[in-house]
Amino acid sequence: MTLPPHDLNILIPAEAISARVVELGGEISARYAGQPLVAVCVLKGAFHFFSDLARRLACSPELDFLQLSSYGAGTSSSGRVLFRKDMDVSIEGKHVLVVEDIVDSGRSMEYLLGVLQSRGPLSVALAACIDKRERREVPVTVDFPGFTLKEGFVVGYGMDYAEQYRELPYVAEVVFRN
Ligand code: IMP
Ligand code: MG
Repeated sequence: MTLPPHDLNILIPAEAISARVVELGGEISARYAGQPLVAVCVLKGAFHFFSDLARRLACSPELDFLQLSSYGAGTSSSGRVLFRKDMDVSIEGKHVLVVEDIVDSGRSMEYLLGVLQSRGPLSVALAACIDKRERREVPVTVDFPGFTLKEGFVVGYGMDYAEQYRELPYVAEVVFRN
C-alpha cells in the first residue's frame, strides 16, 4: 500500500512522554493502593503506553490484553466495533483500568466500557495516552489522560497510519503534502 505523500511533525518528544507516564503511574498507584486492579491494554496502539505505565504501577495489578476490530479504513473510526481478542482475566469484583492509545469520537471506548461494566467489576476507569476530547461524539471521559490534543492525526508511540510508525518513540502529527 502506497500512502499519500506526507511529513511527520514531532508533537510530543519521548522525554515528555516518559515524564508524564511517571506522573500518571503515581496517580494510578495511589488511587488503587490495596485494591484488586486489572489493567488491560487495548491492542495494538496502546502497547508502548501500557508497557511504560505498567512498570510505574506500584499497586500489584493483574495485566491483560484485548483487541477490538473496527470497521472502516482511513483516519477516522466508524464507531462499529467488535472484539478480535477478549480478555483472559476475570474482572468480577475487581477494579478495571482500560489503557488505550487515543480517544477520538469516543465510540470504541463507549462500547468497550459498556461491555466491561456488564461483567460485574468494582469500577471501570480509562487511561489514554492522547485525549482528543473536543472531538467527542459520545460522552466518554478519560480518567487518566496523558496529553490532550485539539485536532490532527497522530502516529508513533504505538499509534499507526496504515500500520506504519508504531515503532517511533515519540508522537508526531501526519502532515499531508499537496
Ligand atoms: P474513536 O472510537 O473515534 O474514539 O477512535 C479511537 C481509535 O481510532 C483509536 O483507538 C485509534 O485506534 C484510532 N485513532 C483515532 N485518532 C487517531 C490518530 O490521530 N492516530 C492514530 N489512530 C487514531
Ligand atoms: Mg486504538
